[in-house]
Amino acid sequence: MAKVTSDYWDKKYEIDDFLYTKVENRFVVEYCSPLKPGRAIDLAGGEGRNSVWLAKQGWTVENIDFSPVALRKYSDYASEVGVASQCLATVADATTFVPQQDQVELGLIGYLQTPGSELKKAIRRLGKHVVQGGHLFGVWHARANLAGGFGGPRDPRVLPTVGFLKRALWGQGFDVIECKLRDGQIQTKEGLKPSITVVLLARKRG
Ligand SMILES: C[S@@+](CC[C@H](N)C(=O)[O-])C[C@H]1O[C@@H](n2cnc3c(N)ncnc32)[C@H](O)[C@@H]1O
Repeated sequence: MAKVTSDYWDKKYEIDDFLYTKVENRFVVEYCSPLKPGRAIDLAGGEGRNSVWLAKQGWTVENIDFSPVALRKYSDYASEVGVASQCLATVADATTFVPQQDQVELGLIGYLQTPGSELKKAIRRLGKHVVQGGHLFGVWHARANLAGGFGGPRDPRVLPTVGFLKRALWGQGFDVIECKLRDGQIQTKEGLKPSITVVLLARKRG
């Protein structure tokens, strides 16, 4: 499978509007609201809807994405809403990044729909930067969405399962608190349709 490049994403982001809106993801809100604000990495954070929401909750967030166009939009958005001083941006690949913040209390990864071997590398790399007692939270269009839902990519290789995500974290010093399918909804021309999402919340031991 050909690797999706940053050019591909830059072109998608070269529009005036926000491709994924400025509205924070509802699963990010649900799972991250109870956590005490500290430092966070939003891996593949794109235009930064979730980074900026975290910053508004008091987090210092580093959005790491390989699309410079997305990160420019994110930085402008952070300035616009007055949280620029808490919003760092790093242009890098999710599998090889070196963050500006070496240790964080939260590693967030939202909708990085990339082939399994790459996703596993990204999750494990992110996990290494989470402090003991810190959390890793991820959300993806699930493999189950192919048969039972609408929207999201239609290539099974970029759609993780619960089993895959649990295995990706094995041996990395995390306790999985929750890893399961959740019902989401997406807007289609025919109205709201079901979309199956997979979420992962884990805590680093120690
Ligand atoms: C579906 S968007 C999700 C953006 C954001 N997390 C959100 O929920 O709004 C996927 C993002 O992953 C980024 N991405 C894809 N592959 C990547 C890679 N190998 N390294 C870094 N970023 C990557 C893209 O640039 C894009 O911003």
